[in-house]
Amino acid sequence: MVATSEWKFTRRDVLKLGAVSMSALAIPRVMAAPAATGPVSPPVMAKVAMEVNGKPQALDLDTRTTLLDALREHMHLTGTKKGCDHGQCGACTVIVDGRRINSCLTLAVMHEGAKVTTIEGLGTPDKMHPMQAAFVKHDGYQCGYCTPGQICSAVAVLDEMERDIPSHVTGDLKAKAAVTRMEVRERMSGNICRCGAYSNIHDAIEEVAGGTA
Ligand code: FES
Ligand code: FES
Repeated sequence: MVATSEWKFTRRDVLKLGAVSMSALAIPRVMAAPAATGPVSPPVMAKVAMEVNGKPQALDLDTRTTLLDALREHMHLTGTKKGCDHGQCGACTVIVDGRRINSCLTLAVMHEGAKVTTIEGLGTPDKMHPMQAAFVKHDGYQCGYCTPGQICSAVAVLDEMERDIPSHVTGDLKAKAAVTRMEVRERMSGNICRCGAYSNIHDAIEEVAGGTA
């Protein structure tokens, strides 16, 4: 028998060696996990007062609380929806001092003394706002998740047009903007409907506006 120093590996040996070396690599990573740091500083709190749907509200909030979370988690007004939480879908639209805003993109402490209207403040099932009634009549929703934001936005859109505020597609800045399909599409473009109920939403808005599109 001839002794030899030459190493011979089967495919199985190579696979086993690979598994062992991968485990060896993983161990230092686990050991290197960051150790727990010291005590976490308490949140900075602030008192915020605002009027929501005609009622005064006084809250003691972590200053990082968004208006959306203040409405939903602290005032339990869950009609306003959290969709993307990144200012991209419009589900969280509410009306603040007459202007629509994405409530997920603004801090509650920035609205001290403001007048906020949510979907609950526009109307009730027994006494609906004309825009709510028009959405029901024209079937302007399917799952309904985007609907509170759509309705708040639509109410604000008609108010903007009433006050002659132009949009990106308004042709004549001196003339009153007509409630055309193009105008409504442009002004409502920040409110996404995943169910695609857009044409019915437009019909509802057009009816309330008494438009001609
Ligand atoms: Fe605010 Fe989507 S939840 S824009
Ligand atoms: Fe479902 Fe608009 S009705 S997302």
